[in-house]
Amino acid sequence: MSQGPFRSAGIATVAIVGGGLIGGAWAAFFLSRGLAVRVHDPRPDAEVAIRPIIEQALADLAQLSSLPTIPPAALQFCAELEGAVGPADYVQENAPEVLELKQALLARIDEIAAADVLIGSSTSSLRATDLQRDCGHPERVLVAHPFNPPHLVPLVELVRGDKTASEAQEAAYAWFERLGKAPIRVAKEARGHVANRMSSALWREAVHIVAEGIASVEDVDRAIRFGPGLRWAVDGPHMLYHLGGGAGGMAAYLDHLGPAQEARWAELGAPALDGRTREMLVAGVADEAKGRTISTLAAARDRRLIAVLQALDETP
Ligand SMILES: NC(=O)c1ccc[n+]([C@@H]2O[C@H](COP(=O)([O-])OP(=O)(O)OC[C@H]3O[C@@H](n4cnc5c(N)ncnc54)[C@H](O)[C@@H]3O)[C@@H](O)[C@H]2O)c1
Repeated sequence: MSQGPFRSAGIATVAIVGGGLIGGAWAAFFLSRGLAVRVHDPRPDAEVAIRPIIEQALADLAQLSSLPTIPPAALQFCAELEGAVGPADYVQENAPEVLELKQALLARIDEIAAADVLIGSSTSSLRATDLQRDCGHPERVLVAHPFNPPHLVPLVELVRGDKTASEAQEAAYAWFERLGKAPIRVAKEARGHVANRMSSALWREAVHIVAEGIASVEDVDRAIRFGPGLRWAVDGPHMLYHLGGGAGGMAAYLDHLGPAQEARWAELGAPALDGRTREMLVAGVADEAKGRTISTLAAARDRRLIAVLQALDETP
C-alpha cells in the first residue's frame, strides 16, 4: 500500500463533493485562494442553491483580504462525480452526516481520484476509521473538519483513521496552513473531535443552567459573549488559566484554585433534551432574537466575526 508522498504542493484544482451550507463556504474559500473548484451535488437545484452561498462568502472574504480575479471558469458544476473528482488535486467531502452514505461516496471518490490525492471529510462526528473502511487507498482519507462558517473560521481539525498515513495528515496540515487556515492534528479519534467536544461541554452546562432556572437563555448567551467568549478569541482555556495564576502561572493557579474547579466540576449538570427543556430553549432563543430572522442573525454573526478577525489580524 502506497504511503505517499501525497499531493499538497502545487494544488490547482479542488473537488467539492456535497454543495450545501458547508460545501458552499468551502468552495468560496478555495476560490478566494486562486484555486479552481469543481462542485458535485446530486440535488437537481444544486447550482441554483449554492451560488448565493458562494457569492455571500466571497463578499465576506473580500473584507478580509483582496481577492484574486476569479474567472467564471474557475467554478464548475459537475453532474457526475467523475467530472468533479477526476481532475482534482484535493477532494473535500461535505455530504450529509450519514455514515453509510459517506462510506459509499468516499469509496467511489477513492476509485476516481489519483492515488496521491488527499481526501478530506468535513464530518462533525464520524470517525475517519469508519469513513475509510471501503476505500482502496485509505491511507489518504482523513477528517478535515471545519468550523461553521468554514470560509471565515480558521480552524480545521485533521483526524487520522487507523489506516490514514501520518504523512497524509502532515501533507494536509502543511497545505491548509499555506492557505491561511489554522489546522490542528487530532492524535486520537474521539466523537466530535476536539472543538465540538468542548462546545458540547459548554452548551451542556448552558442548557442545565436554563433548565434549573439559574439564568435565562439570553442571559447565558450574554454571559459568554461579554465574558469568557471575548478572552477565548485571543487565548485558549489552558493559557488563560496559566495567566490566572499570576506570576506562578498554571502551577500556582492549580494550587490556589484547583480545588474550586473540582468542586464546580462535581456540580455540573447533565441535562436531558426532554420536552420541557426543548420548549424552554426554543422560547428562549425566540425571545433573544427579538423577531430577527435566521438570515439576519447569521449575517450579523458573520459581520462581527469579520470584525474580530480583522482585529486579530488573522485572515482565514
Ligand atoms: N452545518 C454545520 O454547522 C457543520 C459544521 C462543520 C461540519 N459539518 C459537516 O459538513 C457536512 C455537510 O453538512 P451541511 O451542514 O453542509 O449539510 P447540507 O444538508 O447543507 O449539505 C449536504 C449536501 O450534500 C448533498 N448530497 C446528498 N447526497 C450526496 C451525495 N451522494 N454526493 C454528494 N452530495 C450529496 C445534498 O444535496 C446537500 O446539498 C456534514 O458531514 C456535517 O457534519 C457541518
